[in-house]
Amino acid sequence: MKTNHRLCFGDSTTLGTIPSNSVDLIVTSPPYPMIEMWDDIFLKQNGSIGKAIKKQDGNTAFELMHEILDRVWNEMFRILKMGGFACINIGDATRSLKSNFAIYPNHSRILQHLVQSGFTILPEIIWRKQTNAPNKFMGSGMLPAGAYVTLEHEYILIARKGGKREFLTHTEKENRRKSAIFWEERNIFFSDIWFDIKGSRQDLSDKASRSRSGAFPFELAHRLINMYSVKEDIVLDPFLGTGTTMAAAMSSARNSIGCEIDKNFYDPIIKIKDNIIDLSNPYMESRLKKHIQFINERTASGKPIKHKNTPYGFPVITNQEKELIFNELQTIEMMPDLSMQVSYSDSPQALSCLEWNNTGSEEKCSTLQTNKPPQSKSKIKDKQWELF
Ligand SMILES: C[S@@+](CC[C@H](N)C(=O)[O-])C[C@H]1O[C@@H](n2cnc3c(N)ncnc32)[C@H](O)[C@@H]1O
Repeated sequence: MKTNHRLCFGDSTTLGTIPSNSVDLIVTSPPYPMIEMWDDIFLKQNGSIGKAIKKQDGNTAFELMHEILDRVWNEMFRILKMGGFACINIGDATRSLKSNFAIYPNHSRILQHLVQSGFTILPEIIWRKQTNAPNKFMGSGMLPAGAYVTLEHEYILIARKGGKREFLTHTEKENRRKSAIFWEERNIFFSDIWFDIKGSRQDLSDKASRSRSGAFPFELAHRLINMYSVKEDIVLDPFLGTGTTMAAAMSSARNSIGCEIDKNFYDPIIKIKDNIIDLSNPYMESRLKKHIQFINERTASGKPIKHKNTPYGFPVITNQEKELIFNELQTIEMMPDLSMQVSYSDSPQALSCLEWNNTGSEEKCSTLQTNKPPQSKSKIKDKQWELF
């Protein structure tokens, strides 16, 4: 399997080079209106925003900034396939203008426009980003009534173009099964509050460019891609920044397109090709290890496990996980058109394959031979699943 990753530098309010109904999933995070670090980028796109900010007219500035984003959401609706999802990470902004402290509700303003554009809005995720900063409480402290609630969350808005996506052919159904996530991951990924994603957990690019770009964590993009698309789909990020969505798409065996207005991000994005194999393959190993640990604990507590994953040989909770496989990245190369091409292995990861024999015949983890003696079926419950 091979995937392709295409970069375009330009303004995403017009994504003319991307055909209508051609993209399967959008994962993105725009510049946040009314957060000061993004003022300049909005100002460059509409001079009236600068005048509004100078006059301390927060409501006008807020609206003008969103009018720029609205044009990107319209383009997203055009290029998404029917049944395709859009996941938008956005935080609200707090700001004092004319000595008046207020919240600018970015998430609700975006939702309102998505409805107008024709999207179906689905339940959103609250991404809890707890801060331990000593000055996190604002206002009059312990004295009523002049203190403000601290914002410690962002949103991941989820919208779909049209109704449910259909998987009709045998090949489409098979690919969907191979793209499954684990049952225990589903229980975390599809809960409405994410507590467990902290910050950037990887070094895709240098810290300075990640903080300048307001980069979201690799894990956030990776999760959304695995929740809302299948292998070889096309994932778009119209606000690519340092390229986190592209990296997560490479890691998930999806194709991707990334658009970014600021050419200074070229270097950090291209640096992904030097790091992605070393980041991605251990990341997959760690998901497999976590699954094995989960199975160990469940087995130890005496809970039955009915199903077995075919490529790896380890138990899984549901029938839907039986064909799940993570494709290790093998090579990444720069193509003449400056896109990046990734090739993948179709075999399960050797280190995470389990030896197990519950049928009396020697079993293999895909193409790997096992060395240990066969064990009887009655031992399944006591078995502690091991890595070898
Ligand atoms: C919040 S950052 C995205 C960060 C990205 N998710 C990452 O992990 O690095 C928003 C990005 O959108 C870019 N941007 C702003 N306006 C844009 C526009 N009209 N078209 C394309 N990109 C734009 C900014 O330069 C910035 O890099």
